[in-house]
Amino acid sequence: MKKTFQLPKATDSFFYKKDRLTVDGVLLDELLERFGSPLYVYSGTSIRKSYQAITSSMKGLPLQICYAVKANSNLQILRLLSSLGAGCDLVSYGEWSRAELARVPRERRVLSGVAKTAKELESLFKLENAGVFSVHVESAMEFELIVLMANAMRRKLRVAFRYNPDVDARTLDKISTGRKKDKFGLTREEILDLAITYGDDDFVRIEGLSIHIGSQITSLKPYDHAFSRLAELKEELEAHLGRSLSYLDLGGGIGVQYRDERPISLPDYAALVKKHFKKVPKILLEPGRSLLASAGALLSEVVYSKERGRNRTLILDAGMNDLVRPALYGAYHEIAPLILGQTDAVQWDVVGGICESSDYFAKNRKLAIEGLPGERLAILSSGAYGFSMSSTYNSRPRIAEVLVDQGKVKLIRKRETIKDLVRHEV
Ligand code: LLP
Repeated sequence: MKKTFQLPKATDSFFYKKDRLTVDGVLLDELLERFGSPLYVYSGTSIRKSYQAITSSMKGLPLQICYAVKANSNLQILRLLSSLGAGCDLVSYGEWSRAELARVPRERRVLSGVAKTAKELESLFKLENAGVFSVHVESAMEFELIVLMANAMRRKLRVAFRYNPDVDARTLDKISTGRKKDKFGLTREEILDLAITYGDDDFVRIEGLSIHIGSQITSLKPYDHAFSRLAELKEELEAHLGRSLSYLDLGGGIGVQYRDERPISLPDYAALVKKHFKKVPKILLEPGRSLLASAGALLSEVVYSKERGRNRTLILDAGMNDLVRPALYGAYHEIAPLILGQTDAVQWDVVGGICESSDYFAKNRKLAIEGLPGERLAILSSGAYGFSMSSTYNSRPRIAEVLVDQGKVKLIRKRETIKDLVRHEV
């Protein structure tokens, strides 16, 4: 009897056509033949749909999406999102340079990041408005440096304070960012102090407040909580400055379905934004995962398998260096065979070839796979924080990336070679 495989709803760009897994109808098997294994594959349709889902549910709000580049920094992904109207949330000079290469308009960029160095700032301060719409300040020391440098270099720029509202986003501990104990942002007291001291600086203009309380958030409650604190602080800050702020940045964090999570409803999220921020001239959102996660899959081949009693291990050609989320966070990713075979589903530990016990993709996962070399599968929902967190650990060259968009298959990053691995070594 033929076995079916129920894919999670969120990955609707990855579906079976006559028992073969496709991305928007393009056979994944053929992509592996053409580009080799392992391989990251993304669906442009999925990215477009997710972007439009956010913008259409926020209709009526003065919205600018600033895509969190760290989720997937490929230049072609940035270009696609930019063509839809997105700007960028950038957390390093490297990410800023990517936005530059992808020609994302500077007025749609914000510069975040907890450790902007004087050297990075100096490069940016050579440009009008520091090459961005606004700089998001994460600490008092950083702000003092910015004021000093902007005055010394006579460069006008906008800033926003990143507020740490001390709210628990109730997500994985390792991806929570809005609690007092987390390293991010400034407290209410710090922000008000800075406003009193530097509120009237000739070069640095305080224009906004930003928050980001965590990632993979699946409940509206923490947002509600954080938004009300942000609304309060906005009023206090405006009272100190004697003028209104021109924008608020509400960060990212909207969770997706990896397994059986129920993502928050975007219209409900939009209603919450409207409830708290009625008269704000401009609202920025920084989605990363919610635009990219479901749009991507990591394709991989079985190299070997082992059976020891009831314990079965499937050894793949991909490893934690290609997708580290399961190893790092214990994250769940759906795994789907590329061909629905005749075999029964049995439990497998799915692992990579890295010399670390934590190098796994799934434990005790029921899969209709025989365990034969060359069998192929897709590790789903890995479009965000997949390639961008990959490494060359164990001296494994980084793998290739392919984008399927508007009927075209594009290689958007070549597979690295052994030469690339040692290129900078002397
Ligand atoms: N804005 C800021 C300031 C951020 O730090 C982040 C993510 C985002 C926006 C985007 O958040 P998103 O919409 O993607 O949840 N590597 C982890 C996620 C770390 C997120 C870091 N900051 C993972 O794989 O789950």
